[in-house]
Amino acid sequence: MSLDLGTHPSAWRRLLDRASAPYRSAGRFAWHFARGKLGHDPVFRHLLAAGLIPEGGRVLDIGCGQGLLTSLLRACAAMRAAGEWPQDWPAAPAATQVHGIELMPRDVERARAALGEDGDARFICGDMRTEPFPPSHAVVILDVLHYVTHAEQDAVLQRVRDALVPGGRLLLRVGDASARRGFAVSQWVDRTVTRLRGHTVAPVYGRTLNEWMAQLRRLGMHVEPRPMSQGTPFANVLLVAQRT
Ligand SMILES: C[S@@+](CC[C@H](N)C(=O)[O-])C[C@H]1O[C@@H](n2cnc3c(N)ncnc32)[C@H](O)[C@@H]1O
Repeated sequence: MSLDLGTHPSAWRRLLDRASAPYRSAGRFAWHFARGKLGHDPVFRHLLAAGLIPEGGRVLDIGCGQGLLTSLLRACAAMRAAGEWPQDWPAAPAATQVHGIELMPRDVERARAALGEDGDARFICGDMRTEPFPPSHAVVILDVLHYVTHAEQDAVLQRVRDALVPGGRLLLRVGDASARRGFAVSQWVDRTVTRLRGHTVAPVYGRTLNEWMAQLRRLGMHVEPRPMSQGTPFANVLLVAQRT
């Protein structure tokens, strides 16, 4: 069941202001990037509108970049504490503990500069292929798995499944390689952004939506796909996969 957060546009704007404000201390790029991504990428809004992150949950954010999800969750907690969380929105995902893993040192530095690491969040600079995954109620992987080979994707997914507590959810956004045009656009944007951020452009390893779903089902998970590129030219899908 998903609610339209647009029922309270001013509350949504306040949430975005709160979630992007910490990045002012991490530099202009970090702040503009946070505002743009949180404001325009439909996935962040959907995670809240559909109540997909449980209150008090341990959240593993793989490929966490500069920690946008952590900042959004903190902003939710702050709004609830201030009595500003609209009553007809799903419960605020307050009191979460986030464990972020990110390959790029510069992103980890920005996350730490903006958000610190004071108890409710840790940012590890490491590779998802080798970093241990702590037990988690929710694992979030947004636009990350295509950077590693299919065999490595499968190994990460197996470890994610094992890290989830029973009933825990994997929130995995992927591109659907069968939607040729949208997938090609996202690959082009991905390469351009990677280059602009000064990183080496690595090949990407895509799969069709059916292949992603089949792989998660092989791990014994219950999977539900949700289109997740509204307002963008991409072919992205959020897979909500539950460990039974
Ligand atoms: C497209 S960005 C998405 C960032 C973040 N999930 C978000 O939605 O804002 C992909 C991120 O995955 C990271 N990444 C790529 N390969 C990785 C790996 N092997 N281990 C950890 N992080 C990785 C990249 O450095 C980048 O920050």
